[in-house]
Amino acid sequence: MKRILLSLCALVAFAATAAAAEDWQNPAVNERNRVPMHASFATDSPRLSLEGVWKFKWYETPGARSRDFFKPGLDDSAWGSMPVPGMWELNGYGDPLYVNIQYAWDGHYENNPPIVPTEHNYVGQYRRSFPIPADWKGRDIFLSVGSATSNLRVWVNGQEVGYSEDSKLEARFDITKYVTPGKDALIAMEIFRWCDGTYLECQDFWRYAGIARECFLEARPKARIEDLHVMAEMDGGYRIGASLTKAAGSVKYYLSGPGFPEREVPASGRVENAKLWSAETPNLYHLRAVCYDKKGATETVETDFGFRTVRIVGRKLIVNGRPILIKGTDRHEMSATGGYVVTEAEMLEDIRIMKELNINTVRTSHYPNDPRWLSLCDRYGLYVIAEADIESHGMGYGPATLGNNPVYKQSHLERVQRMAQRDFNHPSVIIWSLGNEAGNGDNFYAAYDWLSAWDESRPVQYERAGEEYNTDIICYMYMTYADLVKYAENPAITRPIIMCEYAHAMGNSMGGFEDYMDLFRQYPELQGGCIWDFVDQAVRWPSAKSRTGYIYAFGGDFNDYDPSDNSFNCNGIVAADRSWHPHAWEVRHGYRSILTSATPQQALDGCVKVYNENFFIDLSRYMLRWEVLADGVPVLAGQMDAPKVEPQQTVTVDLGFSNLDLEGVDGELYLNVSYVLRRADGILPAGTEVAHDQILLREAPYRLTAADLKGRRWTADFDPVTGALCSYKLEGKELLAAPLMPCFGRAVTENDLGAWLQRRMGAWLYPEFKTVSLERNAQGVEAVYDVADGLARVTMQYALAADGSITVTERMSEVREGAPNLFRFGMEFAMPGAFNTLEFYGEGPFESYIDRQGASQTGVWKQSVADQYHFGYARPQESGTHVGMRWMRLTDAAGCGFEIAAPEKFSASALPFGRRDIDLSVTGGSRAKGGDQRHSLELQEDGLTHVNVDLVQMGLGCENAWGALPRPQYMLKAEPRSFTFTLKPLL
Ligand code: GAL
Repeated sequence: MKRILLSLCALVAFAATAAAAEDWQNPAVNERNRVPMHASFATDSPRLSLEGVWKFKWYETPGARSRDFFKPGLDDSAWGSMPVPGMWELNGYGDPLYVNIQYAWDGHYENNPPIVPTEHNYVGQYRRSFPIPADWKGRDIFLSVGSATSNLRVWVNGQEVGYSEDSKLEARFDITKYVTPGKDALIAMEIFRWCDGTYLECQDFWRYAGIARECFLEARPKARIEDLHVMAEMDGGYRIGASLTKAAGSVKYYLSGPGFPEREVPASGRVENAKLWSAETPNLYHLRAVCYDKKGATETVETDFGFRTVRIVGRKLIVNGRPILIKGTDRHEMSATGGYVVTEAEMLEDIRIMKELNINTVRTSHYPNDPRWLSLCDRYGLYVIAEADIESHGMGYGPATLGNNPVYKQSHLERVQRMAQRDFNHPSVIIWSLGNEAGNGDNFYAAYDWLSAWDESRPVQYERAGEEYNTDIICYMYMTYADLVKYAENPAITRPIIMCEYAHAMGNSMGGFEDYMDLFRQYPELQGGCIWDFVDQAVRWPSAKSRTGYIYAFGGDFNDYDPSDNSFNCNGIVAADRSWHPHAWEVRHGYRSILTSATPQQALDGCVKVYNENFFIDLSRYMLRWEVLADGVPVLAGQMDAPKVEPQQTVTVDLGFSNLDLEGVDGELYLNVSYVLRRADGILPAGTEVAHDQILLREAPYRLTAADLKGRRWTADFDPVTGALCSYKLEGKELLAAPLMPCFGRAVTENDLGAWLQRRMGAWLYPEFKTVSLERNAQGVEAVYDVADGLARVTMQYALAADGSITVTERMSEVREGAPNLFRFGMEFAMPGAFNTLEFYGEGPFESYIDRQGASQTGVWKQSVADQYHFGYARPQESGTHVGMRWMRLTDAAGCGFEIAAPEKFSASALPFGRRDIDLSVTGGSRAKGGDQRHSLELQEDGLTHVNVDLVQMGLGCENAWGALPRPQYMLKAEPRSFTFTLKPLL
């Protein structure tokens, strides 16, 4: 009752404003004269592109805008210009603004739905004339604008045509009566930066304004198909539904597909042995619907579709009868140069990368996507969770939520309805999503009820529904490992669990990703999820300070006025320019669908188990390649057809070698097995590697060889106060540029900052080392330090050997009760920059961490110090570490330098920047407005090679970037520890 009263009050209050409200402040008016949405399809009717440069005028406020700009006689010669499609802020009008939860006016205006502020509510007016072909006479002419943010009003030849909100779906208007074929038509458009609909478009992304996606005129015959839906199931049954205009008499359907030459078919029927559509087998059929009037055929409408069935059975999401595993990612439609304008080439690149990474699902976070994207998902095989453009996060989830506000009910419904009507025919769309982070309530109940009744062929999900009735899938975001297990093991849960977002890939992240995959593989009740998210949203922006002339800019880089959430929009598996972040490899590995395993004994005999995790295909597309490495050097190799193994089955494969072949082979032995495409497969070329595994056959004992100084002289100097090794000369050549000192900190990562580790563990970042005692003799040095005023003691021992090697032992003791965890336990020093090459036997080739080493492989890797830092991280942070090291060499062009070796596997990095220069904790690291606007591309080399050598460094984590720590097993307690390694001179 209380709720009803509240609703009534809201209605009354709104009614008072509504009377006077203009469309852009009125949630009851979301369109005027907009043509109803129909399914995406192609026609053979003529089209005229509206894309290109338009005349453009921009106003600071709605009040300042011209009221007669659309008039034909108006002189617009002094106007500016704007590309269509094109975002204003990327074309010289206004600044890019990025906020996560709040509205773009945060800090300047109190939320007051449906009223948006007038200050800074910029208005853009567009004008351009187009010649309407003479032969369009007698046809109906439609104007289609793919995506206008936040709203759109259109005039043609001085007359008002219509109005549209719901910015991520096309606005279509019938302009027939306003144009004369054979003459020019003046099209005028007006867009407001914000309107009442903006309250539903509070997604965590750049808040750009302008036009994205395709814009065109289309001249269709009066007798035509208004809408066309195809339903096709895995049993080959199909049903076609078409609605025709009054002038149309009939329609004929022609169907074609794999092994199915085109033929006329009835509106419903069955295709025998239909080849099913799945992400693994994107078999598409093609429907041509020909419309007739009394005189004959008038127009053909075409669409692809697929035979496939999606069901929920108990706790399982079932596609074509199989409980698939969602290896997903979220994706914003975002280009580093175009903003919301994503070209087809860029879409194809995203598809290719997703396929390379074994991603099988994409959630269109958080709005309907360009229909061209969905067609690519159909064609190349990606499951799609199609999401409606509803996020009112800035209103919170409590009483103010718009999800329960009757004034916004119609908008909620329309946004869901228009999406479903448009995207119905795409076989890739297997799940509908009602929106994101918009609370829950009557509006979402209504949307769920409507959609599940309207489309019985797909489940509907909504994250904020939690476990209420209005979601068919429990799709919480960022469930902890512990919660996943709890849910998996709870028999009271009766719906599938598929996280709509998980594994937050911000900065140097994705530590613990394999652990998620292990849980998905262990518990069939867990059906995977979508990584947040695919690509960093950073925008490419000129910068004089940058090493490349540009930076990848993020929130706050443009002015001090706008609210900002800094780099929090850079959470991608890949960087904004689509180059892979190092953790992309971990995704590819975790998501692989061919898994190879063996015990060392089996593998020594050349036998491995091969599990085909696919649900619909065998492995006949792939070659299996293998090699045995001894101390990182290939000693045996071979290749064969991948084994015959049915989906979800395992076979044992004999690779064709045995331990006899390895007799006399010394050292540590690893078996590498990988799978590559025999032939091009969809978008992937022949030879693409889709999976690999590395199996340890035999571990090697620690071996240290004596340095061979070829009779040359060496000297080692120790600092008289700290006792640190501060100079090491080989024949007078200095190898050290900064002394060896204990190191327990790291350049904090975005995840570290999110968990406030710069504060919580800050004592270890740059502590003071006070020398407590120092002993020196001919054999070496022992120095004892008090660290950070009693936090711990550290004892350093340097033992000199006649061959010039120095064995370094670092011990931590007397750790203060309650001392925070360590970032790392190791040493840091610098060498002159001439020592610019590193070679190591360890996990490479890309960076690896204790909780992110699934994809990396043990081997011998030779790399340049200049390449060790990953500039793709938008903000500077820890980078370049390699774990699992047995040895590492740092050498100059002459091969002179140090080899570092340790009895236990260690981790190390060698970077062209100092830790302090990278570390955001030094400059605050804040993500708040006015926060730390530093960019990796602005880092400047200081001419040195900065080396870290660690017993161990803590993990990276990925549960989230706002508080979660890496899992306990990847944390590093401050406790008595000791680390020994040897520095051996190389000549
Ligand atoms: C989720 C949200 C995403 C993004 C992510 C954090 O809550 O749905 O849009 O904000 O968190 O990066």
